[in-house]
Amino acid sequence: MTRSDFSTPTTVSEPSSKSATPAPFNNPRVGRPALRTVSMTGVGSYVPPQILTNADLERLVETSDEWITSRTGIRERRVAAPGEATSDLACEAARRALSAAGLTASDIDLIIVATITPDMQFPSTACLVQQKLGARRAAAFDIQAACSGYVYALDIASHFVSSHTYDTVLIIGAEKMSAFIDWTDRNTCVLFGDGAGAAIVQHRPHSHGLITTCLGANGDDATLLELPAGGSARPASNDTVNQRLHFLRMDGKETFRKAVAAMVAAGQEALARSHLTIQDIRCIIPHQANHRIMSAVAERLGARPDQIFTNVERYGNTSAASVGIGLDEAVREGRIQTGDYVLLVVFGAGLTWGSALIRW
Ligand code: ACO
Repeated sequence: MTRSDFSTPTTVSEPSSKSATPAPFNNPRVGRPALRTVSMTGVGSYVPPQILTNADLERLVETSDEWITSRTGIRERRVAAPGEATSDLACEAARRALSAAGLTASDIDLIIVATITPDMQFPSTACLVQQKLGARRAAAFDIQAACSGYVYALDIASHFVSSHTYDTVLIIGAEKMSAFIDWTDRNTCVLFGDGAGAAIVQHRPHSHGLITTCLGANGDDATLLELPAGGSARPASNDTVNQRLHFLRMDGKETFRKAVAAMVAAGQEALARSHLTIQDIRCIIPHQANHRIMSAVAERLGARPDQIFTNVERYGNTSAASVGIGLDEAVREGRIQTGDYVLLVVFGAGLTWGSALIRW
């Protein structure tokens, strides 16, 4: 597992004036020796208004509310409108995060969008978000770490902020999963939903913030959860379309097993690096895959049920958006107060996993 610790600012060698980036680029990394602490100064989320219930799914595939609820805890999920793309969901969440931070789009230096459901192969969804928000000063790129994307984006953003490269980074986990789900496959179509979660990452002197992030990956298990065609390995063809290879596929049982082990390890690693115990954590926000995974993770971490935040019953698995939506809702519901320790633990296709420990 790779590691990034932010609690103790460290002295780094001062960059030479030759390496300073010339105008018009917006990364003023000039002559500032110490790494900065990193805070999440505003969070926001958005889910589309259309609700798809388990009863609705009973009319689409051979399933039942009882099966879905008992196996996953999911009762309903949100589905984007036909003309609504991932960038639209991302922009709504971003506007709310900007408003919470008291900022406007022109304050953003960098936009990072984590998604496995981009508007298109290229340009990046981050560039489309930059245009829609009018964030003219911002650099922009996408990252792809499936359901772990929000924590991966947070880790990347924190390095840009702590190193003085950028002052204000907008991270967004956004997904229109409904566009990549095989609505004839009951194994997967009941599990996922659409939505977006965003955060503003900045340095705030004398304020709490990100203590540590842990990231991990294992490409050996890449085929457990994949969208097989449409990339350079298997370009789109009549054959790939006929074989329904442009939809998400998953080995649910094995994914379940790996998810629990990886999320527990990531949570324990973050606690160990922070010299905290699970009892010190006010709110644990696990990736909202299903309630059985979250219960197993909580139990193995030794957490009480009241420490775990869940909204999977309302939104299903929103992939990279999941913990971003959870964090925003937990803050708005008053489950997180200034000074509280918050633990995010995530897992996704790749395989990827990670954790972030934040003092709010
Ligand atoms: N309704 C009714 N029956 C169903 C449904 C459904 N929606 N889906 C599958 N089944 C059937 C299967 O066909 C199978 O039937 P069979 O035994 O006759 O072949 C049976 O139910 C499977 O039952 P189980 O194997 O006992 O199901 P399980 O307890 O493993 O639950 C589930 C399946 C919910 C998918 C579980 O494995 C799981 O949650 N896995 C993790 C999934 C996940 O979180 N993925 C996301 C990871 S993160 C990311 O990057 C996206």
